[in-house]
Amino acid sequence: MSAPPPLMAMLLAVAVMLAPRAPVARGSGAHPAYPDAGGTCGPAAAGAEARLEEHGGGRIIDITHAYRPELPAPGRDGGLGPVTRLAESMANGSVSNVSELRMLVHSGTHVDAPGHMVQAHFEAGLDVDKLDLDVLNGPALLIDVPRDTNITAEAMESLNIPKGVRRVLFRTLNTDRKLMWTKEIDTSFVGFTEDGAQWLLDNTDIKLVGVDYLSFAAFDHLISAHLVFLNNPDIIPIEGLKLDHVKAGIYTLHCLPLRLIGCDGSPIRCILIK
Ligand SMILES: *[C@@H]1O[C@H](CO)[C@@H](O)[C@H](O)[C@H]1NC(C)=O
Ligand SMILES: *[C@@H]1O[C@H](CO)[C@@H](O)[C@H](O)[C@H]1NC(C)=O
Ligand SMILES: *[C@@H]1O[C@H](CO)[C@@H](O)[C@H](O)[C@H]1NC(C)=O
Repeated sequence: MSAPPPLMAMLLAVAVMLAPRAPVARGSGAHPAYPDAGGTCGPAAAGAEARLEEHGGGRIIDITHAYRPELPAPGRDGGLGPVTRLAESMANGSVSNVSELRMLVHSGTHVDAPGHMVQAHFEAGLDVDKLDLDVLNGPALLIDVPRDTNITAEAMESLNIPKGVRRVLFRTLNTDRKLMWTKEIDTSFVGFTEDGAQWLLDNTDIKLVGVDYLSFAAFDHLISAHLVFLNNPDIIPIEGLKLDHVKAGIYTLHCLPLRLIGCDGSPIRCILIK
């Protein structure tokens, strides 16, 4: 396909960002109770408890990754690193500690806005603040993708997702491989191929697509599969979900992005309620 030069430049920038800068090593990321947690808002207080992954006696499951410095991040072999710094410090005489947040909005568990890659959508104002909260909240199916395949048309068909299902979280080999717990970006992650994305569009009622790595599009289909979904502003892709230790099945999903006006994406907090 031919795209105007600015769009192509943008797409290439994304591809470059996701490309590894060094040979991929399989790190052993901290998992899952953050034993080496130096909080990104300064070191965790001594004796801090392990992060709560479940609330309400297990009824509420947090499927958002904490912003650990070790989260994989495009273009950063050493992981995401700290995302906050003290802007004001009591140690320096301020009355309170005040942290400042700085990171790419596509870090960790996040949502893409249609304007992320499609200039016309950006110009139409389809930013992250326009995402439909009705799509982002409601019944959702957590489903396991066969571990020997990317999310191809064939794989999609084999999942037999009933018509009427609007929100699906796809758990893949990425979760088994603990890729979100591995600092280095691993481009062999599982994601949608172009034909898989198109199959979903043509044959299902799915509007919210959740995946367990930083890109819903497989690396070899990075631009093409992104465009299949992002060209269609009705589809909301959520990336980098933490689906470890959650049973497949039907839940109520709640996902809330930040109201970042004009922005191409946002960190997002997602929870499942049994
Ligand atoms: C506190 O002051 C020291 C010395 O001026 C400086 O190096 C440090 O960056 C300051 N930290 C903060 C959080 O302001
Ligand atoms: C404020 O930040 C400093 C530097 O990280 C830390 O030593 C101190 O314990 C913090 N105090 C509070 C009340 O957060
Ligand atoms: C998925 O596709 C990537 C390339 O995008 C490839 O490296 C990987 O091996 C594939 N995974 C599976 C399970 O087929």
